[in-house]
Amino acid sequence: MELKAPRGTYDVLPDQAKSWNKLEENAMSLFERYGYARIVTPTFEHTELFKRGIGESTEIVQKEMYTFQDKSGRSLTLRPEGTAPVVRAYLEHNLSSSPLPVKLYYIGSMFRYERPQAGRYREFWQVGVEAMGSEDPALDAEVILLLVHYLQDIGLKDLTLYINSMGCRECRPKFVSEIRKELGGYVDELCEDCRRRIEQNPLRVFDCKSKQCKSVLQKMPLISDYLCQSCADHFLAVKDFLMEVNISFELNPYLVRGFDYYTKTTFEVVSGSLGAQNALGGGGRYDGLVQDFGGPPTAAIGFAIGVERVLLALSKERGQGSQPVKTQVFLAALGAESRPTAFGLLYKMRTEGISADMDYLGRSLKSQMKLAHKRGAIFTLLLGSDELAKGVLVVRDMETGLQEEVPLDEFISSLKKKLQKKEQDSEENDRLLHAQP
Ligand code: HAM
Repeated sequence: MELKAPRGTYDVLPDQAKSWNKLEENAMSLFERYGYARIVTPTFEHTELFKRGIGESTEIVQKEMYTFQDKSGRSLTLRPEGTAPVVRAYLEHNLSSSPLPVKLYYIGSMFRYERPQAGRYREFWQVGVEAMGSEDPALDAEVILLLVHYLQDIGLKDLTLYINSMGCRECRPKFVSEIRKELGGYVDELCEDCRRRIEQNPLRVFDCKSKQCKSVLQKMPLISDYLCQSCADHFLAVKDFLMEVNISFELNPYLVRGFDYYTKTTFEVVSGSLGAQNALGGGGRYDGLVQDFGGPPTAAIGFAIGVERVLLALSKERGQGSQPVKTQVFLAALGAESRPTAFGLLYKMRTEGISADMDYLGRSLKSQMKLAHKRGAIFTLLLGSDELAKGVLVVRDMETGLQEEVPLDEFISSLKKKLQKKEQDSEENDRLLHAQP
């Protein structure tokens, strides 16, 4: 058997680690600034959770779930998304007893059996938020703003935000029955799946990728014409809040998104620099889901962002490729007798917050210097028997090649000063570079 990662999966390799860490760190710090706390739920759940939560007639439940039986015959499913598990945890742990709205975020991998292509995987990562326990349109605006703020914060520019209202459980049935009637007149033009959808759940025709079905949709009535007063007022208020913070958006009446749980506001951010899989993130309100899972009536809203697509868009927009992890200081020990001292000094630097490394393959001095370069070291410390005897080490500036002897008992403070100076110089260079016309 060829030992390869399964189709639709991939490895994050060391030179991508920095970009991944940055996405996660930015998410954690920004989401917490908006008052969201992290929640971690299991990678698999009872299959029933997703069937009930996402909807039996959705593409995800019908075709894309990784479902298996465990050794006790239980049907389990690798999570295809994060909302249903978070709502399950919210109910199971009675999180509604804390002040509302309960604001949560998550980072984790999701699984969907889709046809792999650029930006579409079978195991992919999402960062997402869910805010539960408030129907305030300002919360819709906060969640949408947070999505856009995050994407802008990590450096993306070519973004378009689409928003829509899907109505509520009062007004949507009227739209659904109207669209069912209208679609009935175009049966011959629809794909086989969509013919079935007319009866089962005509809103799912909106998810169909076939060109023919898309052109039929153009002739259908729009949900915006069917909103009840309360949904129309809610949507108007959401737009007003968004305008207050100068977030530009486009109305997209076809944005129903592929889950049955959505009510009222839905939204999606797409990137102009990606191809077919251009949705970076999206979400919406799901005011009925908590109740569907047996809880009290609870309004809620959230979104999820696809990590791989964000990284792809960043590399397209800024040519941002791999960024290897760098070492600030490389300690080149010369001769076996200096290695124990070197090992102790390495630990000391690391406890003092300096990133430092040394050789573990018995390399010559020349090879150690090459390795220091490859690791991006700013300084290399040279420690041989002469230095040991004198109680010093040699600090070499890798940029200028200048060397200086520093007493062992002073080297940490001296190194910190030198590193600080280098950082200031590089900031100043950046400033001058950007100030040029
Ligand atoms: P979603 O639109 O299915 O929503 O997924 C959110 C994002 O995950 C997409 O915009 C895309 O960037 C990424 N994504 C989806 N499928 C794949 C895939 N196969 N490969 C790579 N990336 C993918 C949800 O999952 C909802 N739970 C969002 C939500 C939260 N709604 C309310 N709260």
